Amino acid sequence: MKNILVTGATGFIGSHTSVELLENGYNVIGIDNLYNSYKDVLLKIEKITKKSIKFYEGDILDYTLLKKIFKENRIDCVIHFAALKAVGESVEKPMEYYYNNVSGTLNVLNCMKEFDCKNFIYSSSATVYDKDNSIPYLENYKKSATSPYGYTKIMIEQVLNDIYVADNDFSCVMLRYFNPIGAHKSALIGENPKGIPNNLMPYICDVAMSKRKFLNVFGNDYDTIDGTGVRDYVHVVDVAKGHVEAMKYVLVSRGNIGINLGTGKGTSVLELVKCFEKVSGKKINFKICPRRDGDIGEFYADTNKAKEILGWESKFDIEDMCLDSWNYIRFNT
Ligand code: NAD
Ligand code: WQD
Repeated sequence: MKNILVTGATGFIGSHTSVELLENGYNVIGIDNLYNSYKDVLLKIEKITKKSIKFYEGDILDYTLLKKIFKENRIDCVIHFAALKAVGESVEKPMEYYYNNVSGTLNVLNCMKEFDCKNFIYSSSATVYDKDNSIPYLENYKKSATSPYGYTKIMIEQVLNDIYVADNDFSCVMLRYFNPIGAHKSALIGENPKGIPNNLMPYICDVAMSKRKFLNVFGNDYDTIDGTGVRDYVHVVDVAKGHVEAMKYVLVSRGNIGINLGTGKGTSVLELVKCFEKVSGKKINFKICPRRDGDIGEFYADTNKAKEILGWESKFDIEDMCLDSWNYIRFNT
């Protein structure tokens, strides 16, 4: 049985990936400092899979703890989710983001080197693509960022490229997620950010639960189907399954490649709102506001590389995503 170290294991994507790994017969060793997640996620994962994660509560910045984990477990592959992810906050607190996301990742990679573990899957993001690229976004497009958060992803992608140049036995897939939403069908795990949500779907859920009066729609004057921003929403369970495929690939190959995880389809803010209203029966009040700084009108993924290399394609549609997000929120808040 392969032992997979999942950093950020109790987070949104980490928890869903842990479920898929356990259900596919892998041992999961998890680490999380619970900065943006809750410990009871572990019990929920156990309830879904009837299996448990070997969990270490702590920080990837703690090298002593990382060494302990590698000493106590023969790690075959690391799937690295642990990071801070709020774009706006990263502009206010750049040092926190560079320290946590860059130094934290370097710590993990150093420890892997010390223990001769050469298989790595990195949580990258569509945010690494320069906004002037034409859509759909291809993996070989020019990269650039508009926030410290985005730069942490670009910097680590560069580090991973350089590690491979120096050591051709290194095997890595950098998965560039577009906009993961939705939740596990069981409604036991899902997206539960601490504080005010930054992303669209958690905000819509807050309005549906009457925690907020209305949704601020950031701009209706883009050159899109209805003027509102268009994104490639992808179900988190599809994203999690993409990690299992990436991991199988990483274990038998060598190299470092970037691969998009998206559906290849764009959905506007108002289309998502309408779909959510339909599946939930809840009215989502909204106000049109000015554009949000740094936003662009439309982007979605080219998904051919994921299909060709990993044999992965998304299965769930926008209705599934809205329904699963809603079910998770209404049963858990
Ligand atoms: P999340 O916040 O739900 O999960 C991240 C987890 O990492 C949290 O549980 C947090 O407590 C933990 N963590 C953060 N810093 C840590 C540290 N120093 N030590 C230990 N644990 C730490 O976020 P998510 O949505 O699951 O995102 C996972 C990864 O995917 C992140 O790297 C994020 O940048 C990337 N990503 C997310 C999205 C998205 O829209 N959700 C899109 C693209 C990329
Ligand atoms: C989606 C659309 C907004 C909130 C971000 C990160 C990206 C990646 C995914 C990590 C846009 C509009 C949003 C609201 C709105 N994360 N919107 N009202 O900006 O595409 O991507 O999350 O890597 O790096 O930048 O996602 O969910 O914030 O926005 O109208 O309250 O919804 O303008 O068009 P985004 P989002």
